[in-house]
Amino acid sequence: MNLDRLRSEFPALESRPPPVYLDSACMSLVPRPVLEAMNGYYRNYPGCAGRSLHRFSEEVGRRYEAARAAFARFFGAPDPSGVVFLRNATEAINLVGQGWPWRRGDRVLISDQEHNSNLIVWQRLARERGLRIEVLALSEDGSFDAEDLERHLARNVRLVSLFHTSNLDGRTLPVREIAELAHDRGAQVLLDGCQAAPHEPVDLERIGADFYAISGHKMLGPTGTGVLVSRPSALERLRPLLLGGETVAWSTLTDHELRPSPYRFEAGLQNYAGVIGAHAALDFLARVGFEEIRAVEHSANARVTAAFEDEPRLHLLGPPEPERRSSIFAFSLDGVDPHDAALFLDEGHRVMVRSGMHCVHSFYERRGLPGNVRASFYLYNGRADADALVVGLTELLDRVPEHRVSGTSAATTRGTLRPASGRRRGAGSTRAAARSARPRRRAARGRAESAAGSG
Ligand code: ALA
Repeated sequence: MNLDRLRSEFPALESRPPPVYLDSACMSLVPRPVLEAMNGYYRNYPGCAGRSLHRFSEEVGRRYEAARAAFARFFGAPDPSGVVFLRNATEAINLVGQGWPWRRGDRVLISDQEHNSNLIVWQRLARERGLRIEVLALSEDGSFDAEDLERHLARNVRLVSLFHTSNLDGRTLPVREIAELAHDRGAQVLLDGCQAAPHEPVDLERIGADFYAISGHKMLGPTGTGVLVSRPSALERLRPLLLGGETVAWSTLTDHELRPSPYRFEAGLQNYAGVIGAHAALDFLARVGFEEIRAVEHSANARVTAAFEDEPRLHLLGPPEPERRSSIFAFSLDGVDPHDAALFLDEGHRVMVRSGMHCVHSFYERRGLPGNVRASFYLYNGRADADALVVGLTELLDRVPEHRVSGTSAATTRGTLRPASGRRRGAGSTRAAARSARPRRRAARGRAESAAGSG
């Protein structure tokens, strides 16, 4: 699909000049067919699935199960009964973690670069149920040490829980090899697929993972849609997190009988519009094709990488080669606070990036860093978007006061950087508007810092 035509499918890109959206690793934009599918539910058949016998209920039930089958096919899952609809990948990981039949002393293996979603749950289980956490140290350059993995696996690891692609630096782990080694040792494998599934074809049968967690909102779908794709036999071992309507086949005042998977895990009325929208998102991705998606985002990433290759004040996170960083260009700048950089790019260049710790506090805490800046590309980011980032960053670097440049403290520019062009957004982008907007923007930065990416 031609890039202009593809971009025209995204209403959020319609304003002129167009926004430069480089934060898809957090939340991707939503194309028209997804919006229409969600509206279609509320307009045409706004019933609840699996409960009533009328036509709205029948229609939503049919579409909800069609979405389940589509997710199974898309991820190469052996059977739709292994697909559980949840709110997000965080809930999917929690379902596995909290639902697993742990025995005191069992071990879970994670890496030292996991999102809070794949860390906090294990910490609580360690405190409350005697789980032990093994941490695999990842290299700075993106290489993977399989021997180190084997050493960890030899210690009674029952579950390996790793990201597939990192939200910090875009590295992709050799998940097929990892799953094989884990299974040889009798461990099962849970993958956080949030940053991989939007960018490459994922075939669970081929990878051999037992559980795969994804968030619909990172792959063109609506917020509040997460999916756990599993081997049905692995899913059967989990205890549901929530109980209630739809999870039981029968109940009396003193007892109940749970339904089979996946229904026992989907308590209460579900996000039908969201799931139907997420299905439309899968269809959209399939229509564009991963080959094209990868070509577009790689070309944007390569263009930005090349522009700063010889810039000594810009420190790239992760492997130097853009093809080893999926869609991510994450960096810190000597003497520039990451939040200042993000505000500068947004206010002066309409370039939206994410700054802070990206929900991986543990990574920055160990290094004594306040976070960094991350641009993440997706199928709608062409050359113009890459160039806007390069222009914005170049202007920013030009404005860093000379005496700050030699220092590496990222807090040195705090509150002192303003784009040359002022704040361009909105009808009245006057200096007065920029001034009155400043406190709000500073407050927003404060919130970003204290949350430091909690989601
Ligand atoms: N929301 C998280 C991020 O932006 C995953 O990286």
